[in-house]
Amino acid sequence: MKRWDVINRFAKKHGYTRYLEIGLSTGKNFTRVDCAEKESVDPAIDRYEHANPTYRMTSDEFFATVADAGKKTYDIIFIDGLHESDQVDRDIAGALRCLAPGGTLMLHDCNPRDEARQMVPRIQTAWNGDVWKSAVRFRAWNRNYGCLVVDADEGLGIIREDIDSDFRLTIPKTLTWSWLDTHRKKALGLTSRKRFVARFFPEEPPTTTST
Ligand SMILES: C[S@@+](CC[C@H](N)C(=O)[O-])C[C@H]1O[C@@H](n2cnc3c(N)ncnc32)[C@H](O)[C@@H]1O
Repeated sequence: MKRWDVINRFAKKHGYTRYLEIGLSTGKNFTRVDCAEKESVDPAIDRYEHANPTYRMTSDEFFATVADAGKKTYDIIFIDGLHESDQVDRDIAGALRCLAPGGTLMLHDCNPRDEARQMVPRIQTAWNGDVWKSAVRFRAWNRNYGCLVVDADEGLGIIREDIDSDFRLTIPKTLTWSWLDTHRKKALGLTSRKRFVARFFPEEPPTTTST
């Protein structure tokens, strides 16, 4: 199950038409999204100079100018820009300001499989960054929306009003890799693909595997 499969499932089920992607790169995900109105944001610099977004700017600039000033709203927003948790926290806040009622917010890279992949600053090509910290903090502190992470495609964070906040852990002052590794399932609300589909898309025929 890839990120576009999840985006397209939500879009189809809820009749979403307005899609926003933060962090476009080559458009591998963007081109596979089935929504009538699609927009993207990317500064397109350094190793990502190839990107050709709708808005060539950082997400901070986008939310402060285009989105907030234009009172734009989107049905589904996918955050996959700079994978540093302070930035992701700001991206979540900005995205929630322009998410339509009943909308869905998604985060990529919430479930790093080893320590090196989540180190900030980045030390290798395969990198999830510490997006996981944003997912944990959001789960612990936000009361209006719930958040869970689907165990697919590097960890797909799903933020929606109809997800229960069921966080029952004490968050340490400093979030560390060893804390995540010990508490991963509860910390992220890690949900198998099978359970995710059964919960949000019960109309789909059940699969016999957990994929
Ligand atoms: C992992 S790639 C995105 C991949 C794409 N979403 C996909 O699934 O095919 C991350 C992108 O985020 C962009 N980016 C980096 N910093 C950003 C920022 N501050 N605001 C928005 N995008 C940013 C990079 O330029 C890069 O293109």
